[in-house]
Amino acid sequence: MIRLHDVKEADVKTKRVLLRADFNVPLRDGKVAEDFRIRKTLPTINWLRKQGAKVIIVSHLGRPKGKVVPELSLAPVAERLGELLGCEVPLVPDCVGDVVAEAAENMGAGEVILLENVRFHLGEEANDPEFAGELASPFDLYVNDAFAVCHRAHASTVGVTKFLRPYAGFLLQEEVRVLLKVRDDPDRPYYLLIGGKKAKDKLGVLEELLPKVDGILIGGGAAFTFLKAKGYEIGKSVLEEELLPKVKEIAERAYKNGVLLLLPRDVVVAKELSDSAETTVVPAEKIPPDMMGLDIGPETVRAFSKKLRDAATVVWAGPMGAFEYKPFSRGTAAIARALAEAPGFTVVGGGETGEAVIQFGLEDNFDHLSTGGGATLAFLQGKSMPALEPLMVGGLF
Ligand code: 3PG
Repeated sequence: MIRLHDVKEADVKTKRVLLRADFNVPLRDGKVAEDFRIRKTLPTINWLRKQGAKVIIVSHLGRPKGKVVPELSLAPVAERLGELLGCEVPLVPDCVGDVVAEAAENMGAGEVILLENVRFHLGEEANDPEFAGELASPFDLYVNDAFAVCHRAHASTVGVTKFLRPYAGFLLQEEVRVLLKVRDDPDRPYYLLIGGKKAKDKLGVLEELLPKVDGILIGGGAAFTFLKAKGYEIGKSVLEEELLPKVKEIAERAYKNGVLLLLPRDVVVAKELSDSAETTVVPAEKIPPDMMGLDIGPETVRAFSKKLRDAATVVWAGPMGAFEYKPFSRGTAAIARALAEAPGFTVVGGGETGEAVIQFGLEDNFDHLSTGGGATLAFLQGKSMPALEPLMVGGLF
């Protein structure tokens, strides 16, 4: 049981509140391409404004590694946030120093400003106490609503809490409430649906969750190393050769533990990954040598959908194919629809999977569409979530 200090317990009226949000959103042509994470933070921002707080938001964007990278400026986010809130959101050109202190000084109650990308400073990812102190100094209290980055011990997620009393925002509280239930007391049968470009990114979660789940369904690029491990010819499909021993071990462990492991039966193949590629569907064991598998086929969609309908809990992490390209989007779209209609409790991890679901217009059809990618998987594996610790009742303050 985790109890967090609810922002509603805080006296925020006329206070300068440092709000950590995760506005690490995809950009295209200098605009926000997908604003799900921004929209999910609005309830906390609006509540703070209504209470008469001065809201100063800090976020990262991308991985600039301590350097100012103009393409990773939060300017497009400030613009989009302003549109969503219906008010101007000025972007302060830095996140520390006089420029921030002055901006905070001149704010009226209910106003919102956004600080420039916190990862432009090396002190952020190093969780440097001096930098954290600077970041905190113009403010009265701290609210964390950035669940998607709570697996990182950075200055803006952990360091600042040594200087400012920390509270949890509404988005963060909701993520923790839902994911805690799935982590500690999932209704059964519990299935894990794995996809994404590479098996490497998902092996950790597979290993950790294997003892907890009743079945694992694997699609996407991640599936081909598993198919190869079965002795199938996979043509030019993505193969992570160095992972073959680990993948075999996981398959054996699944078998020994009575965990169902379902792999694609058929795949959509092509010679190239493009919007105009010519495609055909072949059995998973008969991928031609000059072709690569880029999506799951219709028979796999039927087999996976049937299983997902029987599940009481499903966690989905990773698209079933290269869904960004039209010829390879059908598998992911069909599985998204099947899951949206499934009677069990459905949790979709953020990142690419979330983007796919939003692209297919199914955002509201799942029990929980998480804002976190890595953070969600880390939480479900029971890994440490350093940024949650200071927010816990009985925690550090
Ligand atoms: C994410 O997109 O998963 C979070 O914003 C964390 O980003 P990071 O992996 O660059 O720390």
